[in-house]
Amino acid sequence: MSRREEGFMLRIEGLSKSFYLHEAGRSIRGCSSISLTVQAGEFVGITGRSGSGKSTILRSIYRTNLPQDGSILYRSAALGLLDLMKASEREILYLRRFEIGYISQFLNVLPRTTAYDTVVQSALEAVSEGDRAYAEQETERLLRHFELPESLWELYPLTFSGGEKLRLNIAAAMIKKPRLLLLDEPTASLDNASKRKVRELIERLKQGGCTMLGIFHDLEFMEGLCDREFNMQEGFIDG
Ligand SMILES: Nc1ncnc2c1ncn2[C@@H]1O[C@H](COP(=O)(O)OP(=O)(O)O)[C@@H](O)[C@H]1O
Ligand SMILES: [Mg+2]
Repeated sequence: MSRREEGFMLRIEGLSKSFYLHEAGRSIRGCSSISLTVQAGEFVGITGRSGSGKSTILRSIYRTNLPQDGSILYRSAALGLLDLMKASEREILYLRRFEIGYISQFLNVLPRTTAYDTVVQSALEAVSEGDRAYAEQETERLLRHFELPESLWELYPLTFSGGEKLRLNIAAAMIKKPRLLLLDEPTASLDNASKRKVRELIERLKQGGCTMLGIFHDLEFMEGLCDREFNMQEGFIDG
């Protein structure tokens, strides 16, 4: 085995997922025979046509999709090397809480939870000793970083604009400082200034050693951020 192989954080082999559509009585392809490896500390960008299965891959890693074939080896800090396709629900919940983050363009708004508390709760989830002072301090720092106006902090995010919801979503995921972060077009509905803020935080996470797998429709945004590009049609393009 090469040195490179020993350092992988994530290794996907032969991943295939199809969706059975009951009404239509047929299956459609989510993704098929995907193999890709992400080294520890690396940022891999997934590119490809719309509908080519990029999101299906990320959802399979986070286990919101359960693929039919293949394996998804993940090197967990606490649980060792495990196949996410075979991991128990308990293990998956543990990993979502402490190790694997997922950001999409859609916000999961928690009911009856203010913007501020959404981020605080996310932080508290990942700090086992439940250090509230730290969670609050970090929440304030991140909400300021993303320039979410203080007048919105105590409001319910249900009525927020798409961009505001997204910035909140990103803050809530990033505050947990995940080891592996999955990004599904997180900048899709953001203006340029907000995109720069996201980029800054991604760079900081990367410096902190976070491993990332991301989809960005905006190729310019990926420029200089990604270490390698995996194209759905062609496989790895560089590196
Ligand atoms: N839950 C689902 N049920 C049925 N079809 C789905 C589902 N999720 C994705 N698909 C289909 O799988 C294919 C790949 O989707 P997706 O992974 O979202 O593509 P991408 O992210 O590259 O645009 C598409 O044809 C899409 O319509
Ligand atoms: Mg997608």
